[in-house]
Amino acid sequence: TEPAIGIHDLSLATTHYRLDLATLAHHLGTDPAKFHTGLGQDAMSVPAADEDIVTMAAAAARPIIDRHGADRIRTILFATETGVDQSKAAGLYVHGLLGLPSACRIVELKQACYSATAALQFATALVARDPTQQVLVLASDIAKYERGTAAEATQGAAAVAMLVTADPRLLRLEVPSGVFSADISDFWRPNYRSEAVVDGRASITAYQKATVEAWNDYRRHGGRDLSEFAAFCYHQPFTNMAYKAHRHLLESTGAAAGAADLDTALAAAAVYNRALGNSYSASAYLALASLLDHRDDLDQRPVAIISYGSGSVAEILSGVIVPGYRNHVRTAANTNAIDLREPIGYARYEELHDPELPDDGSHHELPAETSGPYRLAALTGHKRIYQPTG
Ligand code: CAA
Repeated sequence: TEPAIGIHDLSLATTHYRLDLATLAHHLGTDPAKFHTGLGQDAMSVPAADEDIVTMAAAAARPIIDRHGADRIRTILFATETGVDQSKAAGLYVHGLLGLPSACRIVELKQACYSATAALQFATALVARDPTQQVLVLASDIAKYERGTAAEATQGAAAVAMLVTADPRLLRLEVPSGVFSADISDFWRPNYRSEAVVDGRASITAYQKATVEAWNDYRRHGGRDLSEFAAFCYHQPFTNMAYKAHRHLLESTGAAAGAADLDTALAAAAVYNRALGNSYSASAYLALASLLDHRDDLDQRPVAIISYGSGSVAEILSGVIVPGYRNHVRTAANTNAIDLREPIGYARYEELHDPELPDDGSHHELPAETSGPYRLAALTGHKRIYQPTG
């Protein structure tokens, strides 16, 4: 039999600020119900001037290192769409900030919102090869679109950290998974842009098609029946996307589901995303955190993780929830991270959205704003200087 390998611990972090979508709706003269009901979003996380994917990922990882130590972590996989360097992996900064052992390999993975799922698969393979080792998987992203576009309401930011081990306490990953890829242009970000380019309609259609194709692949490889799953953790650019995709999947498989069934399958996994907004690579795993924190009936039950990254790659993972998982979740800390964000008005959001940062190597200090444990203190000589906030 396969050794039990999967997610042993899961922790999230987000930004210091949030923009309520009611505030955005007011500024745009839009009915707030379009965002609250139409998209299924209440707010979006907005990074402070001294926050980025590194500070969020380090904040997410800190409690995991505090709880388990780092002696057995020999690999850090950092999944992101929002890379801060064309060459250096963002995980190196996290490794330094957390004081992790030097006997460690670190790489960054990119494929829009999908790459954390690849990281999880690679981590599982490493642990299968040597079950004494642990892998730290980080997924951290800032979803940013041009202001004044339809996509503006679907921004957000967050990070998750996952410890992948043998005999995990939260979720055992199963074989097979289902995969699908197609070279399309629904959402992408050329190297010269800080904001994504997106064809909103095409991206929704592509997401739905990729989900069905990945599902069909999963079934062809002997995967479980749809009805066996207790819940579905979808990538959520906005939470209603999970509902759209799931309805489409049910139709394609000929299964019927009423609104109540849909809510049972999806609602618990949407609580955090509804408050944080899109977090690209972290999104499906925030859904998992939300699910584990909001349902206590999942012992031994299969759940699906449905990952979609534009461009495009989709993968459906199945995992079995480990009995006693509720003793190991981080509900209070996760809820605090979300609830303690400081609400800001449109003008402040606008400043933070389009910061003026030097690209000539000159010395630039960032104002101290974050309430998180780490901050980006300065840019100097083309270097990024991170520090603990003390
Ligand atoms: N009250 C209630 N509901 C309302 C409403 C009102 N007053 N006004 C509109 N709505 C509803 C609409 O009916 C619609 O719901 P349905 O799709 O269920 O019919 C919903 O609100 C959104 O309205 P529109 O479709 O008119 O919204 P839009 O076209 O202005 O923008 C969007 C929506 C295309 C998703 C846009 O926000 C966008 O481009 N976002 C970025 C791309 C994205 O998130 N794509 C998702 C799939 S790709 C992916 O998942 C990868 C990734 O992370 C990017």
